[in-house]
Amino acid sequence: MSESRPETGPEAAADRPTVTVERAGEIAWVTIDNPPVNATSNAVRADLAGAVKDVQGARVAALRCAGRTFIAGGDMTEFDAPPVEPHLPDVVQMIEDSDVPFVALMHGNVLGGGLEIAMACAWRIAAPGTGFGLPEVNVGLIPGAGGTQRLPRLVGMEAAIDIACRGRIVKAEEMLELGGIDRIADDPERAFDEMAADLPGRPVPVSRREVPAFAPDLIDETEKSLRKKARGQQSPLENLVALQWAASEPFTTGQPRERARHLELRQSAESRALRHVFFAERAAARPATIEGAAPQEITRIAIVGGGLMGAGIASTALTAGIAVTLIERDAEAARGAHDRVAGLLDGAVKRGKMDAATRDAALEGFAAVDDYARAAGAELAIEAVFEDADVKRDVFARLSEVMSEDAILATNTSYLDPREIFRDIPAPGRCLGLHFFSPAHIMKLLEVVRTPDTDAEVLATGFALARRLRKMPVLSGICDGFIGNRILAAYRRAADYLLADGALPHEVDAAMRGFGMAMGPYEAQDMAGLQIAWANRKRQAATRPAGERYVTIADQLCEMDRLGRRSGKGWYDYGDDGKPQRSSEVEALIEAHSREQGIPRRTFTADEITARLLAVMANEGLRIVEEGIAERAGDIDVVEIHGYGFPRWRGGPMHHAAEIGWDTTRRNMHLVAEESPGSWVLASTL
Ligand code: NAI
Repeated sequence: MSESRPETGPEAAADRPTVTVERAGEIAWVTIDNPPVNATSNAVRADLAGAVKDVQGARVAALRCAGRTFIAGGDMTEFDAPPVEPHLPDVVQMIEDSDVPFVALMHGNVLGGGLEIAMACAWRIAAPGTGFGLPEVNVGLIPGAGGTQRLPRLVGMEAAIDIACRGRIVKAEEMLELGGIDRIADDPERAFDEMAADLPGRPVPVSRREVPAFAPDLIDETEKSLRKKARGQQSPLENLVALQWAASEPFTTGQPRERARHLELRQSAESRALRHVFFAERAAARPATIEGAAPQEITRIAIVGGGLMGAGIASTALTAGIAVTLIERDAEAARGAHDRVAGLLDGAVKRGKMDAATRDAALEGFAAVDDYARAAGAELAIEAVFEDADVKRDVFARLSEVMSEDAILATNTSYLDPREIFRDIPAPGRCLGLHFFSPAHIMKLLEVVRTPDTDAEVLATGFALARRLRKMPVLSGICDGFIGNRILAAYRRAADYLLADGALPHEVDAAMRGFGMAMGPYEAQDMAGLQIAWANRKRQAATRPAGERYVTIADQLCEMDRLGRRSGKGWYDYGDDGKPQRSSEVEALIEAHSREQGIPRRTFTADEITARLLAVMANEGLRIVEEGIAERAGDIDVVEIHGYGFPRWRGGPMHHAAEIGWDTTRRNMHLVAEESPGSWVLASTL
C-alpha cells in the first residue's frame, strides 16, 4: 500500500486529468500521472476507464506512469469510505477485455492495484530492478481487483503464496523467470517501440488460464507456517484461502468472491489497526517539532563504549555507509569492541544480508581506539558507556574538548536524565538522546529524546540519521524510561500485582502471547536478564510513592541469582533445550509472598489478565501524551510495536484501547486501580 496525495476527488480530476492518452500512429500512449506514487485513487480509476475507451481504434495501447514509479498501490485515505465507481476490478477487466491490447511498461514498484492492472495487460515489460508485490496482506486485506485470482494463473501457486500471503516483493529478474513478465529492458518504452513494429500474437488473457499444477501438500504446509508466524493476524490466511479459489473455480466466480471478501475485510478491526499503524509510522517520522528544520549531514560518527549497544550501533552505522570511530577505555577493550563489530558484520554476511565486499568496505571506515582525540572531525558522537551519570558526564566533557563546537552529542541512556548528563556542556542545544534498543543492529525503534534545550536542527538530524540507519524514529521528551521503558515498567508492575493476587508467570505469559505479543512479560524478562530492572527499582526506591504496592518477588529472584536465561534460571527454569519450564521454586516464592501479605489467591482468566495489562499500557500511554512527552497517541503505538513486540495487527495499545472502546478501557483501568489502592495514577482524560 502506498501513500498518496490526500485529495484526489473529482474536483482534483477536474483541474488536471490523472490519465492522458496520446496517439502516435497506431499506438496509443496512456500515461498515468498521480504523484507521488500513481495510486489508483477514485480519479485515476475514472480517468483510466475513460482512457480505455479513448484508445479504441489504435493497434496497441502502451500503459506507463509518470514519475519515479509505476502504480504502487491504492489510495488508503479512501478506504474508510464506501468505494466509489468505477471500481478497480471493472477497470482492470475493461483493460483485459479491450479490443486494443495493452502493454504495461513498468519501473519503480508495481504494487497492489498496479500489479492487478499489469496482469490484465496482454504484455508486460519492466525496467531492471522493478519490484512486484501485493502488499494488501500488510494492511489486513486481500486484493480486491483479481490479484489473488490472476497471480497464481500467471506465476504458479508457490510464488503467488509468497507474494500475496507473505507480502514478498519480487524483483523483475525473478518475475521474468517466473513468467510474470515478458521482458526486462533498460528503457521499456524503447523496447516497446521495437515490439510494436512486429507485434506478436495476443496471448490468452491471464484470467482464462489454468493455475499450473502444484504440490498437493503445498496449501497445508503453507497454512501451518503462516499460522505460526502470524501470531493471530488473519490476513495471510485470508489470502491463502482466496488463492485457492483460483485453483478450484473459474475466474468469473473467484473474482467476485475475492472482491466481496476484500470489501468485508476493509471493515475489519485488523485492517483498521494495520492502516492506523501505516499512517502512525509516517506521522511519527515527521514530528511537528522539526517541521522546517534542516538536518545536518553526517559522514562520520564517534561512538563511545563498544559493549553490547555500542557495537550494535556501530555496525548499523557502518552498514549504512557512515564511517565510525569507536572509543573504548583501553587498548584491550578497543580490540574487544573491534571484534564485536566485525563479528556482527560477519553475521550479516553469513545471513545473506550483506556481501563480503560491502563488509570489507564498511570495515575500512571503522576504527576502534582508546584515544578520545580521534573523535575530532566526527559530526556526531553517540555515548553508550555504563549506565552511570558520572561516567557519562566525564565522557561528554572529554568529547567536547576534542570535537568541534557544533558537533552533535547524543546519549544512549535508558533511564538517566539527559539534562543531568549534559549539564556541564556549553551550547546544550546540540545535545539529545538517541535511545537504541537491543540488539541495536536488529531492533527498528529509535527514541529521539529532546531536552528542553535541544535545537530543532539537531532533532531533525536525529530523524534523518534514523532514516539512513533504517530505524523507526519516535520523538520523546524526558521522563523516567522515556516512552517505551516507562510503559514497560507499568506493565511489569501490573503483571507482578497479578502474580501476588493469584496468577502464575506462565499464565500471564500465555495470556499475552495469546493476545499476539511476541513474548509474555516474564519470558521476555528472562530473555533480557533481570539485572537492569532490578537496578532501576533500587534507584527508584527513594522516590516511590509511600502508599504504592510493592511486590518483592522479582527482587527475591535476583537475590537468589535467578537472573534470567543467561544464568540458567529466572522466572522459569531452563533445561538443555533452552525452553522455559515452570519453576516450583518460583511458584512457591510467589505463593509465600501472597500468604505473607495476607492476600487470598484467586484465579485469573486469560481475558482478565489481558484486560488489566492492556488497560495499564493505555493509561500510561495517555499520561505520556498528556504530559507532552509524546506528541500523539500514535507515537505510543509505534514505540510498542517496534520496540516491545506488541502485535502490529492490533494497532498498538492506544489504538486497541480505542478499538475496544475507551469506556471499556476506563472500566478496566479503574478495576486495576481498585485492586491496588494508592498504586496507580489515572490519566486525567481517561
Ligand atoms: P555494556 O556494559 O555492554 O557496554 C558498555 C561499554 O562501555 C563497555 O564496553 C565499557 O568498556 C565501555 N566503557 C565504559 N566506560 C567507558 C569510558 N569512560 N570510555 C569508553 N568506554 C567506556 O553496556 P550496554 O548494555 O551496551 O549499555 C550501554 C548504554 O546503553 C547504557 O547507558 C545502557 O543503559 C544503554 N542501553 C542499554 C540497552 C540494553 O538492552 N543493554 C538498551 C538501550 C540502551
